[in-house]
Amino acid sequence: SPQSAGPKTTYSLVVVSNRLPVDFEVAEDGTENWRTSPGGLVTALEPLMRASDGAWVGWPGVADRSFAPFVNDGISIVPVRLSGAELEDYYEGFSNDTIWPLYHDVIAPPSFHREWWEAYVRVNRRFAEEAAAAASTGATVWVHDYQLQLVPRMLREARPDLVIGFFNHIPFPSYGIYAQLPWRKQILDGLLGADLIGFQRAADAGNFSSAVRRLYGYPTRGVAIDVPGHHGVHRRVIARHFPISIDARSYEELARRPDVQERARQIRQDLGNPNTILLGVDRLDYTKGIAHRIKAFGELLEDGSVSVEDVTLVQVASPSRERVGPYIALRDEIELAVGRLNGDYSTISHSAISYHHHGYPREEMVALYLAADVMLVTALRDGMNLVAKEYVAVRFDRDGVLVLSEFAGAADELKQAVLINPHDIDGLKAAILRAIAMPRQERLRRMRALRRKVFDNDVAAWSTAFLRTLTEGAAVRPGIPDALAA
Ligand code: F6P
Repeated sequence: SPQSAGPKTTYSLVVVSNRLPVDFEVAEDGTENWRTSPGGLVTALEPLMRASDGAWVGWPGVADRSFAPFVNDGISIVPVRLSGAELEDYYEGFSNDTIWPLYHDVIAPPSFHREWWEAYVRVNRRFAEEAAAAASTGATVWVHDYQLQLVPRMLREARPDLVIGFFNHIPFPSYGIYAQLPWRKQILDGLLGADLIGFQRAADAGNFSSAVRRLYGYPTRGVAIDVPGHHGVHRRVIARHFPISIDARSYEELARRPDVQERARQIRQDLGNPNTILLGVDRLDYTKGIAHRIKAFGELLEDGSVSVEDVTLVQVASPSRERVGPYIALRDEIELAVGRLNGDYSTISHSAISYHHHGYPREEMVALYLAADVMLVTALRDGMNLVAKEYVAVRFDRDGVLVLSEFAGAADELKQAVLINPHDIDGLKAAILRAIAMPRQERLRRMRALRRKVFDNDVAAWSTAFLRTLTEGAAVRPGIPDALAA
């Protein structure tokens, strides 16, 4: 095991997120170990944490277990304990069945339950206390994502010496949708405890600022919000976008490894050497538009535009939030659609869809990206979508076509992709056919432009920009007197 004991007790940089970079796992035979967690957040922050002297406060992925702080793979880990009931009410309930659907434009109906909210407040307080205990005097604390929106305010009250940043990895909805939330004022107040609030897209930051104006009436000027504080002194909170990215170079390095390239060739061969491999890679989530993608592909098979000998769709759907109602229903819906399509169109030697309800190690994902001629990102709503960026980073051959939903944050930057509206099934079908038939010259031209974007704004540039804005802003605190702010 890569872990060792003896981390220090306070740190000048503390990252707080619901999920730690490692999950504690108990296998069926009872063996226990730590495994890299799923999701974009961990991918994004790992390089920063390894390079700095910081601690990571978060939940270890299992209920009712306490762990002492430890060092894993060069990162100091401070596990936060959650009970089984808290897991249900705070994580599965309020985070993933209230905030998640609401912030993703109510693709699924959000459920509002007062007990869930109470658990959310309680658990946010615990995270804030753990973070406060791990932070040295004047430390920077960087809180992440929708599960912990109350932590900035709680931290500021306990520790006014801290510099507090918050980054929201998912969309922030327009006011008409946000206003449904019974606790809409409390959440805004929680976030406004931060000095800097980061979002993926300019539109998300704009939605947040307009919610603050509508519900609190605080004046906003550009990205600055003047928040009245104690003794007539205003705090200036900055809300702006910092599009997140990946460690592009490390993906390219993996892609250049001969064993990974050999694996990519093997994958194509094992699929029966189709002319075109289409690929989808997602957490199994209703925001990802997996059903829309399967519908479009099914219609292409049905109308004879493509055949299973020529074109295969590989769909990796990694298990996610498996005890949350809409996710249980989604799995049934997707697997029914996959089974139908394969039943109707697969031959003994060629599958229509090669479907995998699994998470895979990064090497295998990179081999899949290398093997894929067309990458399908058809999210109905997505904060960023790092899969799109991973695909681009891997394609050092500058080949491959990215079909990208305009409803993913990544579309703000990756304009050279084939942009689609996933709700428009005919449009999606046309885009898939266009991607399959795209001349090599055009593929190379587009991919070159995409790669420039992803490599210029990699995850190091993202975290540097965020932390620089945070600490520079903090230097001009404690704020502006009432008279000047008016
Ligand atoms: O990036 C969005 C996000 O929800 C993260 O906050 C989260 O860790 C990841 O996706 C995976 O989801 P979960 O932690 O619920 O498995």
